[in-house]
Amino acid sequence: EPPYAEYIRSRIRTVPNWPQQGVMFRDITPLLQDPKTFRVLVDIFVHRYMDQKLDIIAGVDARGFILGAVVAYELNLGFVPVRKKGKLPFDTIAEEYELEYGSATVELHADACKEGDRVLLIDDLVATGGTMIAAANLLKRIGANVVEAAAIVDLPELGGSQLVRQQGIELFTVCD
Ligand code: PRP
Ligand code: HPA
Repeated sequence: EPPYAEYIRSRIRTVPNWPQQGVMFRDITPLLQDPKTFRVLVDIFVHRYMDQKLDIIAGVDARGFILGAVVAYELNLGFVPVRKKGKLPFDTIAEEYELEYGSATVELHADACKEGDRVLLIDDLVATGGTMIAAANLLKRIGANVVEAAAIVDLPELGGSQLVRQQGIELFTVCD
């Protein structure tokens, strides 16, 4: 485990029984609120990807926008949003995926990147992995080379990170 993992983990708050009974919700807002941990967090990603010759960063609605946009700005890259259904105005492609109960859909603008672009995909957290896999599939469908998927938190007991890697997607997470 990298030396900064414990520091980042110490600023993630676990809220029991939210949004429903039995869920231990990992709340990243304290991490973003403290200027020091926010900077350490952003710098972890900036240093990891600064020499990767990326073309663009894609961030997932909504918490993936915060980190994704800042890392993109710092690496002098553009940012494209993967959004929940019905939010993007132009030509979109969609991927539906299974939730614990029911399903969800994420969408991407068809012109979000060019064929062969080296794309980094960023979200805040991997739980069941459904969101990250669907987002990566959207990018692949428009010809992107998804160099890596990255998140702050992995919840390994839910098996999502294993599923993501089984799909052949490289995955980086800061802590569990
Ligand atoms: C959360 C989280 C990830 C996703 C992870 O988003 O920010 O995007 O769920 O879960 P999974 O690995 O099981 O797919 P949420 O759907 O709560 O949306 P929000 O960011 O708009 O609150
Ligand atoms: N925290 C934040 N987002 C989530 C969680 C969690 O514990 N589980 C699924 N999405």
